[in-house]
Amino acid sequence: MTERLEIIRPDDWHVHLRDGVMLETVVNFTAHQFARAIVMPNLAPPITTVEAGRAYRERIKSVVRGELNFEPLMTCYLTDGIDPEEIRNGYAEGVFTAAKLYPAHATTNSAHGVTDVKNIYPALKVMQGLGMPLLVHGEVTHSDVDIFDREAVFIEQVLIPLMKDFPALKIVFEHITTADAADFVFEGPDTLGATVTPHHLEFNRNAIFQGGIRPHYYCLPIAKREKHRLALRRVVTSGSKKFFLGTDSAPHAVGAKEAACGCAGLFNAPCALQSYLKTFDEEGALDKFEAFASINGPNFYGLPTNTETIILEKSPVRIPEAILVDDTHVVPFHAGEAMAWNLG
Ligand code: NCD
Ligand code: ZN
Repeated sequence: MTERLEIIRPDDWHVHLRDGVMLETVVNFTAHQFARAIVMPNLAPPITTVEAGRAYRERIKSVVRGELNFEPLMTCYLTDGIDPEEIRNGYAEGVFTAAKLYPAHATTNSAHGVTDVKNIYPALKVMQGLGMPLLVHGEVTHSDVDIFDREAVFIEQVLIPLMKDFPALKIVFEHITTADAADFVFEGPDTLGATVTPHHLEFNRNAIFQGGIRPHYYCLPIAKREKHRLALRRVVTSGSKKFFLGTDSAPHAVGAKEAACGCAGLFNAPCALQSYLKTFDEEGALDKFEAFASINGPNFYGLPTNTETIILEKSPVRIPEAILVDDTHVVPFHAGEAMAWNLG
């Protein structure tokens, strides 16, 4: 049995780092585990200009602990009225690595999101020309579509037409949660990739209702049936180069989670690699982990892989019960639990 792995240092291709005191606390968990991260732009207000992206990147860098070598990769939040030149300039100036499509009202801070994907066609045309990836939150938001069907409906109603209209556009289907999405990406063209979170590989929708409402298992897209979780586990361990690591770590203060109308999001940055390794180990696929964590992502984005390596070993580690942030705290995924794998 493998007890130790040495792999190229991984990156996180989807993370929410927030701002202010929350940022100061959470960024160092991500920087400890990953060399680079694609930083989501859903602040309030969202990051929609080159200037805002550059300033946010500086705020992130200024609070990363000195000994950690970490590079935030910024994204632009697409709105109905986005100026394509802002995207072009942001990419040319090395500020924006990608742009994010949130359907309006899909999730946390997405009120400014896109109401009809046709509204951003001028921006997508520019991105296709540049080879700049489009990152999609793949859920439709009409109230008549069941919450558990939103991802599958998105494929039919939005993604397929979009891919037809922009056949050369690089698209990342973010945090996929269904067998429908897993199969669609697996069989799709090389321009289509997907991120998979650690938590969607670990639990299904029962976890949200185990003996009562469990707000810390509530995130968007919401966890689905067991057959979907199994499909995700199959594709990430299949060796396909189209799937890569994206934690969707999304911290919220405990009061915003444990509430009558609690926020969506799991804070998994303190145990992300541990959680992924649990899955790959259980699937007998540790030999497939390096490609998923460290190679497929940069290859898709057209970026170099990291040059450093890290050691992962089977030595128990306890995940904290709570992470203090100012006068409150955030409850991490696997809070208070012992996990088998750790960073060496
Ligand atoms: C994210 C957040 O809180 O910013 N929440 C979540 O459940 N994943 C937004 C998102 O990625 O949908
Ligand atoms: Zn997210």
